[in-house]
Amino acid sequence: MTRLALRINGAAVEAEVEPRTSLADFLRLEQRLTGTHLGCEHGVCGACTVLIDGQPARSCITFAVALEGREVRTVEGFDGDPVMAKLRQAFHEEHALQCGFCTSGMLITARDIVTRLAAADERRIRSELAGNLCRCTGYMGIVNALLRTLGEMPTEARLGKAPAEAAPAARPAAPFAGFTAKPSAASPAQAAEAPAASFGLPPEPGWSRIADHFELATGPREAWRLFGDVPRIARAMPGAELEESEGGKLKGRMRVAFGPIKASFAGTATLVREEAAMSGRLEGGGSDERGGSRAKGRVSYRILPRAGGGSRVELLFDYQLQGPLAQFARPGLVKDFAQQLMAAFARNLEQGAAAAEAAAPLKAGTLFWSVLWTRIKRLFGRGG
Ligand code: FES
Ligand code: FES
Repeated sequence: MTRLALRINGAAVEAEVEPRTSLADFLRLEQRLTGTHLGCEHGVCGACTVLIDGQPARSCITFAVALEGREVRTVEGFDGDPVMAKLRQAFHEEHALQCGFCTSGMLITARDIVTRLAAADERRIRSELAGNLCRCTGYMGIVNALLRTLGEMPTEARLGKAPAEAAPAARPAAPFAGFTAKPSAASPAQAAEAPAASFGLPPEPGWSRIADHFELATGPREAWRLFGDVPRIARAMPGAELEESEGGKLKGRMRVAFGPIKASFAGTATLVREEAAMSGRLEGGGSDERGGSRAKGRVSYRILPRAGGGSRVELLFDYQLQGPLAQFARPGLVKDFAQQLMAAFARNLEQGAAAAEAAAPLKAGTLFWSVLWTRIKRLFGRGG
């Protein structure tokens, strides 16, 4: 194994890698950045294209160990990038994708073309795109999307100056293809506030991370007491079922459903609470025996007073999914899912506090459809 330190989508990443590991495998399997696709694995089709130090490169024929100190940008790393936003919209409007397999590589190459060649015509675009193959033969739409994007670029870009490059968002990476994560409905004040801190915890190599928060009408002391009532917390968490709780050692089950895949994770966790800091950490793992998915995770929380009353609960999720469910581990999707989960959890917790009786757990599958519906509405520009 070789120690590797590089930057991916604006975040520092350190990992141990086998010298034979390709960058594509490292991104997909170790970093869970599955937006980078693998087609031919011979450097021919372009599906695996990423940016290395700003230049398009084939990640299937690049060894990860060769990237010590380099900057890699994948399709997940363009949140806030104005050119990529235009390209995504143009791909959508010009029907520039069918199955979408080539699309992430196409978008990376397309962005390189429109920022480098402001005066490119159809012939030049086709020539520049020759290294990206579309199995659905959707080239007409793809070329039209690039022409449309060039036509909509700011004047300075048309005159040959590349538009200001948006810095890549630090991971967890931005949602892909027009999906923009929004704050959950649990707390309208979320949008105005900074995201939760990192709790001083370094990210685990190969794990994904989500920072979030929600608010409660109850004060910090009452919230702290609520968080100590483990059975009540479990009842408020959609899909959770607590089987044993003894001295901070928990045993239980978590049911989730992502599309056609349903999983029931049986697992154990350890809860550590620190009263002085009003913070806690739940750490554990579990597996779904029928489906073969496995999950490891850590939830850190801290309760803070909120200006004007009530409390703010800051959360940090670190997790790793393996097996069939890992295909849904794209940070944007999981972030949306986690936000809706937290919204339901906060509602249940408050209802339980008010009624002195905990709310019935929701089915996590319901949340999946809610997340999916929100995303479909966003995709078609109807808010959400
Ligand atoms: S998968 Fe890398 S070029 Fe085809
Ligand atoms: S849209 Fe299917 S491979 Fe290009």
